[in-house]
Amino acid sequence: MIGRFLSLEGGEGAGKSTQARAMADALAERGVHAIVTREPGGSEGAEAIRALLMHGDVRRWSPHVEALLFAAARADHVEKVIRPAIGAGTWVICDRYLDSTRAYQGVASGVDDAAILALHGFGSKGLLPDRTFLLDLPTGEGARRAGARDGAGADRFAARGADFHDAVARAFDGFATAEPDRFRRIDASAAPEQVTAALLDALSDLLP
Ligand code: TMP
Repeated sequence: MIGRFLSLEGGEGAGKSTQARAMADALAERGVHAIVTREPGGSEGAEAIRALLMHGDVRRWSPHVEALLFAAARADHVEKVIRPAIGAGTWVICDRYLDSTRAYQGVASGVDDAAILALHGFGSKGLLPDRTFLLDLPTGEGARRAGARDGAGADRFAARGADFHDAVARAFDGFATAEPDRFRRIDASAAPEQVTAALLDALSDLLP
């Protein structure tokens, strides 16, 4: 049996981490073993790159350098964790993946999408999720939730202005429209249990 690869995408504060864990628990109840992982990070090397990316001044890295660092972190994560798990029949639920680079470094920061996809082809052999769930939440509400969670400890990305986060949201929306086979939009403003139920419904065709 081959495992499935699922990614959760969306802006800050949409509940991706909470829902990733809830999905893994719900899948376990159905006899499907799933691991939860995240980007940037998820492997030892990628977590080291995460520390470089998340901390320091907003201008510490240019968008092009960020795109390279995210691609490098992803390549290590795919090689060391994601591909081995899928090959062993385990499902992988990833909290952010390639579409975050395409939204944050690409559309919202000006890096060419084709360049990001080329880096992904080189670094991770172009591995794409079987399904990507876009957790939809108005950016103002997401910022409020993330602010309540992170306080003054916002990272280099969360700390950017409303225009940036609106551009990110529009980018995700555009990707979901362009790739309807891979993407499912999920209303993240509902109660957490309802969001989990909607996610399970939206992957039911992948279940064994
Ligand atoms: P998070 O772990 O709280 O989701 O934070 C990760 C931050 O990094 C978030 O603000 C989005 C940003 N990010 C990118 O800019 N590009 C990427 O490729 C990924 C995976 C995350």
